[in-house]
Amino acid sequence: MQHPKTYFIRTYGCQMNELDTEVMRGQLERRGLAWLDNEAEADLLIFNTCSIRDLAERKVMGKLGLLGKRKKAHQIIGVTGCMANAKKKSLFRKMPHVHFVLGTNDLHTLNDTLDTVLSTGTKSIGVQSLFTEELDYVGAQRDDKVKAYISIIRGCDKYCTYCVVPYTRGPEVSRPPEDIIEECKVLASKGYKEFTLLGQNVNSYGKDQPSFSCLFHDLLYKLDAIEGIERIRFMTSHPVDITRQLMEAIRDLPSLCELIHFPVQAGSDRILRKMHRIYTLEQYHEKVALLKEIVPNAALGTDIIVGFPTETHEEFMETYKILEEVEYSVAFLYTYSERKGTPATRFKDTVPDEVKQERLQMLMKLQDGIYKKQRTALIGSTQEILIEKQNTKNPELLKGRTRCWKNVLVPGYPSLIGTLCNVHIEDFTHQTLLAKMIEEPLSLIS
Ligand code: SAH
Ligand code: SF4
Ligand code: F3S
Repeated sequence: MQHPKTYFIRTYGCQMNELDTEVMRGQLERRGLAWLDNEAEADLLIFNTCSIRDLAERKVMGKLGLLGKRKKAHQIIGVTGCMANAKKKSLFRKMPHVHFVLGTNDLHTLNDTLDTVLSTGTKSIGVQSLFTEELDYVGAQRDDKVKAYISIIRGCDKYCTYCVVPYTRGPEVSRPPEDIIEECKVLASKGYKEFTLLGQNVNSYGKDQPSFSCLFHDLLYKLDAIEGIERIRFMTSHPVDITRQLMEAIRDLPSLCELIHFPVQAGSDRILRKMHRIYTLEQYHEKVALLKEIVPNAALGTDIIVGFPTETHEEFMETYKILEEVEYSVAFLYTYSERKGTPATRFKDTVPDEVKQERLQMLMKLQDGIYKKQRTALIGSTQEILIEKQNTKNPELLKGRTRCWKNVLVPGYPSLIGTLCNVHIEDFTHQTLLAKMIEEPLSLIS
């Protein structure tokens, strides 16, 4: 087989996959391959996949199937990510044009895998269930120059009954704090300003490695002390592991943004129990109340699943009520999707698709009203935004985000990218706040 010179990676799924793609890009570029922004022509084509819902898998399978028909003779095709772990060898049977399958815990072997495929012409697979290798995060090829994802813990031990992640990413494995700190220092010295700490459950950080003597809040104190880091975010968290110490860290550390993902998933105790979320609604509300007491300006995010097997209309209305009460700043709303191999398949998917869709639409309408109310309340206020880039449609506008993750557009010069600016919120469109600079640095006015 011909040695590939160009590559293309299509990424599906969550931020963890985005970071894994950046790590793979670093590995391939060091090998001398160059990115080609054309999947039909690239010599090496990788699909970094997601398995979280059926639709995510169907998207990839559709693309892969199409590619099978059009594939050029020289192209090498790989499937990485969560679907690789979920489907393993069966991927070769369904998609015979795939050359290698590499799971989320085997990405460090990418170049060796390529060598095997190239030298032997045979198919290669790696789907370990435990993450063991420190990946070369520092060598990751990052496109963004302002914001960076930092992996702090991989895997998940929670086993919510609907979720495929504990099976595709394996058990929790925390990364040594020295490595995280070192990576953040390197990135801060390169000018990165916003650091998003990633894990399926970042609040579990350190629990699997007592020898680190460093739990999640301890890590936050260490990272906040690094010069140049302006903002720290983290995702995602499980409500059970959100501790008082974490709330105090959010209150006390200047770089820590006040948006906390607090995914409730459902509003009824019976459904929460069936989901194995290991908290009751009362415990959830108590924690939210404690957070509001310790960090009064905290904004909350959530994930919700409607149509979990056996969910009644009344139980759904309890979910509706919690959305109404908490008024989340960010809400990701999903219909339940049965995942092979998860315990919830035993409950039988009893809620008809059209009912799931109706419930989803009701929540979306409610949440849209809440977003509108929140944006209206921000008009006239001053907000600190981190300028991320120029707006693609109108380059005279800059795009930034508030500490609580609201999108803002503001007129300004590209030299402001990567800086924190105070802006005055004037108006909003559906998704975006429109602002004016409060004071523009004189040196930048031409
Ligand atoms: N670790 C994160 C979740 C990662 S998956 C957490 O616990 O918050 C992101 C979201 O996808 C989950 O929070 C859940 O709302 C949703 N999800 C997971 N499995 C799903 C399924 N089988 N059907 C529908 N939504 C699902
Ligand atoms: Fe999935 Fe639950 Fe783990 Fe989140 S905490 S990744 S929903 S098993
Ligand atoms: Fe998808 Fe895997 Fe992320 S299933 S959401 S890519 S952890």
